[in-house]
Amino acid sequence: MAIVCKTAAEIEKMRRSGHIVRQVLDYLRTVVAPGVTTMDLEHAAEAKIREFGAKPAFKGYYDYPCVLCTSVNEEIVHGIPSEKRTLETGDIVSIDCGVVLDGYYGDAAITVPVGAKIDPELEKLLKVTEESLYRGIEQVRIGNSIGDVGAAVQEHVEGNGFSVVREFVGHGIGTRLHEEPQVPNYGSRGHGARLREGMVLAIEPMVNFGKPETRVLGDKWTAVTADGSCSAHFEHCVAVTKNGPVILTQ
Ligand code: MF3
Ligand code: CO
Repeated sequence: MAIVCKTAAEIEKMRRSGHIVRQVLDYLRTVVAPGVTTMDLEHAAEAKIREFGAKPAFKGYYDYPCVLCTSVNEEIVHGIPSEKRTLETGDIVSIDCGVVLDGYYGDAAITVPVGAKIDPELEKLLKVTEESLYRGIEQVRIGNSIGDVGAAVQEHVEGNGFSVVREFVGHGIGTRLHEEPQVPNYGSRGHGARLREGMVLAIEPMVNFGKPETRVLGDKWTAVTADGSCSAHFEHCVAVTKNGPVILTQ
């Protein structure tokens, strides 16, 4: 499958899907609190998505059972919401949400602290991970390469003493949730596919406090850090345009 470039009209549709995802995540951020379960977040998200007239993108995708991925602490991505997982003060929770509206997908993620205060080291993990996403976005320019995006993310993460997950990567997005190209959060400048006008990339750094190695739990979905350290995840969908990067998920 080749990389699909989108017209301005298609990008406008993706902006609408992206805007819904953003509103859902903004709402969920206010729901996160000690005592709330990850299944509470799931139910809140499903109601919001339907309210906006969109459809959840993840539920049923390769038989994934939920609307959200909710990944707590050492969980990196693809945590499955559960009424048994109660958020506690000092936890961090990554919330990943995708929707489809009028045939076009939107996909974004945030990591949120639970309760009034978390460990300052974890606060730094969240800050550096989100900053690394914006370092990557800054590289989304016609003529740059996928390696420029990954290198920018990687340099910022490793420069701050954290590590980048290799086993999971960002992706193209459009009329399918996952399109070409893959968008790793590591790489070499000038390497990989060249960015062309109309490409839309979901950039999603997954950053571990400790070592980069991962494993997948017995539920076949939940990816965790091999060393048990905490992990953060932020994601935006970004269009390549003549005017530089345009974030569609805001
Ligand atoms: N944002 C994640 C991704 O792009 C969500 C996929 S979860 C799945 O891979 F359930 F849909 F697979
Ligand atoms: Co994604």
